[in-house]
Amino acid sequence: MPIEQQSVHLVAATVGFLSLGLLWLTVLWGTTLRVGWGLTRVRHQTLYGVHQTMALVGLTLGLVHALAQLAVPGGPVHLLDEWVPFTNGEDPLGVGLGVISLETLLALTVSVLLQRMLGYHRWRMLHISAYLAFTLLCGHVLISGSDAQSAGVRLLVAAGWLSTLVLRVATTYRAAALPKLVAERLAARLRGRQVLVNVDPGRCVRFGFCEHEAPEIFQLRGDGRLTYRPAVPTGHVEQVIQAARVCPARAIVLSRPATTVVMSGDPAEV
Ligand code: HEM
Ligand code: SF4
Repeated sequence: MPIEQQSVHLVAATVGFLSLGLLWLTVLWGTTLRVGWGLTRVRHQTLYGVHQTMALVGLTLGLVHALAQLAVPGGPVHLLDEWVPFTNGEDPLGVGLGVISLETLLALTVSVLLQRMLGYHRWRMLHISAYLAFTLLCGHVLISGSDAQSAGVRLLVAAGWLSTLVLRVATTYRAAALPKLVAERLAARLRGRQVLVNVDPGRCVRFGFCEHEAPEIFQLRGDGRLTYRPAVPTGHVEQVIQAARVCPARAIVLSRPATTVVMSGDPAEV
């Protein structure tokens, strides 16, 4: 390989492996967010911020890696191959998998900006495509990477991919959102009664999914602050339970107003 090609290759490969590592960490971190690990010990904004930062840096490096291919003098990748999958003349499958993966991750990141409009369930469905995108990314590295031909590197990439799936499957029953059955029992207990809402400001990360589920009760203001009605009218109880169910930070606490107050019998204590 001529020296100019070698230097571009070195930069592109280094940036590519850094991106792969960061996106791997992003997926693992995302899975733990969903399960709620660490939520009691670390500030929620910090946990979400780390996930977001790793995702954005990993994705940016992925884009730099892809664009660097165009800078290889006389290289086999052209502008069209970068955006339209399977059009590369030399390695259509490998480059194609990389293109689909990057485009899926870009769509997923844009969906974060639209999350309030999409609502929790649609946003989550889009977000789960991260596992597929990461799988395609690993396929791209294994097929196209000239530095990924050694058994050690291949094993490392395969182990990284497997770890994301193992963690996801192992945590399936420990998702942070309130399970459907528990929510249904809660709804049966609270139906027709007055319910009080409290949002823990230390936990709330202001994603606004609660507003999507119960707009009459929760409102995310333009300045990013959440306002809510602490007393829920009886007709809105189901919506509020649904909001508590989807809140990724488990910040919404529902309670019933006390019906009996027991006062101390000793007047000296009053
Ligand atoms: C850039 C902004 C991003 C934000 C604000 C964000 C936010 C979140 C949040 C709030 C969760 C928890 C969802 C829940 O409780 O159900 C989550 C989960 C997750 N995130 Fe992200 N994320 C971002 C980007 C990414 C990217 C680029 C990837 C892929 C590399 C990714 C991979 C994941 C995964 C795999 C999960 C677990 C999904 C599941 O199993 O349900 N995230 N993310
Ligand atoms: S209460 Fe939950 S759903 Fe509502 S804005 Fe805060 S974190 Fe998001």
